[in-house]
Amino acid sequence: MAMQLDQVVPFGRSLDEYQAMFSLSPDDLGKKIIGVADGPASFNAEMYAQGRHVVSADPLYAFRAAEIEQRFYTVVDGIMRQINETPDDWVWTFHHSPEQLRGRRVQALTHFLEDYEGGKTGGRYVIGELPRLNFPDERFQLALCSHFLFLYSDHFSYEFHRAALREMLRIAREVRVFPLLTLALKPSPYLMPLLEDLACDGYHHEIRTVPYELQRGGNQMLCIKRVGPPVAAGYRPSEQCSREPCRQSRLV
Ligand SMILES: C[S@@+](CC[C@H](N)C(=O)[O-])C[C@H]1O[C@@H](n2cnc3c(N)ncnc32)[C@H](O)[C@@H]1O
Repeated sequence: MAMQLDQVVPFGRSLDEYQAMFSLSPDDLGKKIIGVADGPASFNAEMYAQGRHVVSADPLYAFRAAEIEQRFYTVVDGIMRQINETPDDWVWTFHHSPEQLRGRRVQALTHFLEDYEGGKTGGRYVIGELPRLNFPDERFQLALCSHFLFLYSDHFSYEFHRAALREMLRIAREVRVFPLLTLALKPSPYLMPLLEDLACDGYHHEIRTVPYELQRGGNQMLCIKRVGPPVAAGYRPSEQCSREPCRQSRLV
């Protein structure tokens, strides 16, 4: 389904935020990385400036730079007003104030826009929409997804989340997702049943506490890895798993 720009909050984060959210080590930064739902984050641009090649996939990249920029400035003040009206919902340790947060979002957008057209030509910004991504199996070592899955649990179904995670695990050997809260600051109701399903599929997971918290309580990152050989195309292991949690979660 074609994306409407007015459905998107084109807020993007920076490299240091990605490093904190995803616990990225120097070794991780050297991996073949895809940022799924990267939007107007400056992660890709900043990595490129360091001589690294990240691929970002997002339906937003169907739009031109000027359209993305206009959308950002249409919504930014309304979002900042909502943040100011809900002071108890936010933690000001990484970002020290709403004003600094706004400044950093503008900085990330500016950096992204400067890199965008050249990065598109170079194949670093690719139009792509979960739950299907047009990459071969195991094209990447690490897939990152920030502020999309789990956060929008009220907008996207359980089945969407499961298909999206499986797709990322098809194209990358390891997947990391942050945060695990919804927009309402509640743990996503999908998380635990999804972990049961993925365990049946043969994936290992770990939930790590990370040094990034803006939404109050949102300082946990999910890391999922495949162990063993790739899953054969078309094979749906959890449909054959007889463990009770798997059978129950298939009913969700
Ligand atoms: C809040 S932004 C997060 C941007 C970036 N990951 C960050 O944290 O700075 C959410 C992004 O999800 C993207 N998005 C929406 N639907 C998507 C889908 N089906 N597949 C992939 N990305 C999607 C939007 O275009 C938007 O750029």
